[in-house]
Amino acid sequence: MKKRVIELIEKLAREHTLSLEEYEYIITNRDADAIERARELAVSVRRAVYGNAVYIRGLIEISNICKNDCIYCGIRRSNHDCDRYRLTKEQILSCCDEGYSLGFRTFVMQGGEDPHFDDDVLCDIVKAIKTKYPDCAVTLSMGERSRESYEKLFLAGADRYLLRHETADAEHYSKLHPETMSFENRMRCLYDLKDIGFQTGCGFMVGSPYQTVENIAKDLKFIEEFKPHMCGIGPFIPHKATPFASFPAGTVELTCYLLSVIRLIHPKILLPATTALGSIEEGGRERGILSGANVVMPNLSPMDNRKKYELYNNKLYSKAESAQAKAELEERMKNIGYEVVCHRGDAK
Ligand code: 5AD
Repeated sequence: MKKRVIELIEKLAREHTLSLEEYEYIITNRDADAIERARELAVSVRRAVYGNAVYIRGLIEISNICKNDCIYCGIRRSNHDCDRYRLTKEQILSCCDEGYSLGFRTFVMQGGEDPHFDDDVLCDIVKAIKTKYPDCAVTLSMGERSRESYEKLFLAGADRYLLRHETADAEHYSKLHPETMSFENRMRCLYDLKDIGFQTGCGFMVGSPYQTVENIAKDLKFIEEFKPHMCGIGPFIPHKATPFASFPAGTVELTCYLLSVIRLIHPKILLPATTALGSIEEGGRERGILSGANVVMPNLSPMDNRKKYELYNNKLYSKAESAQAKAELEERMKNIGYEVVCHRGDAK
């Protein structure tokens, strides 16, 4: 007789929905067979939608200055050991120039919540990139802002916005964030972004402090119902200068299993094999792709700043993580049967 966990994974592949209890069940009762079955189904549905293409995004970390104090994050305001920087418009545009010649057609500007990047400053940069490179998609990952601000950025030409929800459980959210931040506002931002017309990405850390199986089940249910265009998940990795320094890291094993599960929930979703996954284990990103992910986001930031954008310790910033080493990345993907493609890579 077939195990219930396998039956549920097969049901998810057919129906793209499970109850909260069923999501909990497939997490708690996963074994080698379940992981393999989820992987196999995820890879086959991924292949049906995207063939063997892996999409690439050039990531530009434009500022590590942040007014927030998220307990897990290495660039939190309270970390006085962090060497702060912010890129100028000219530096950002030269990252795009370099990225464009390398073949990148999506630029992701990510940064802390740095008040310098107000609507005027950020809209001006977005417009400059879109004017110079109208064939490129611009993705922003600049945190929580007002609806009006998101509207202006969209009108300026930004195509996509990434804002991880971090956890779909309000109580868990409050254990990861200072009192000045709220789960309600996070959700408000995500629904506004989607409503305005951004291709919107949410996501969460796997193995974050105090995370329970029930929390992860809620994350999956939220992803199922919110229907994001993109979803970024990666293992939590402790940073020594945060209060969570001594918490254990999340695992590659659970992260990859959840990548497979998310692929089965939304066959067409854009799912990156994240830097955190590549940082925690050699070959982690390849394992992500082989579990159902279809996007990688190499770093295009100026070399001198990369080390400073340290969200967690031992973050990869050279080798295959660097956009300049795109050839190595292509080789790595080819070795596992995938092909890096250079167009904008919108969701199907
Ligand atoms: N480990 C893993 N991921 C982290 N992030 C922030 N800090 C850490 C950490 N210590 C993730 C958050 C954030 C994204 C930019 O990086 O989920 O949304």
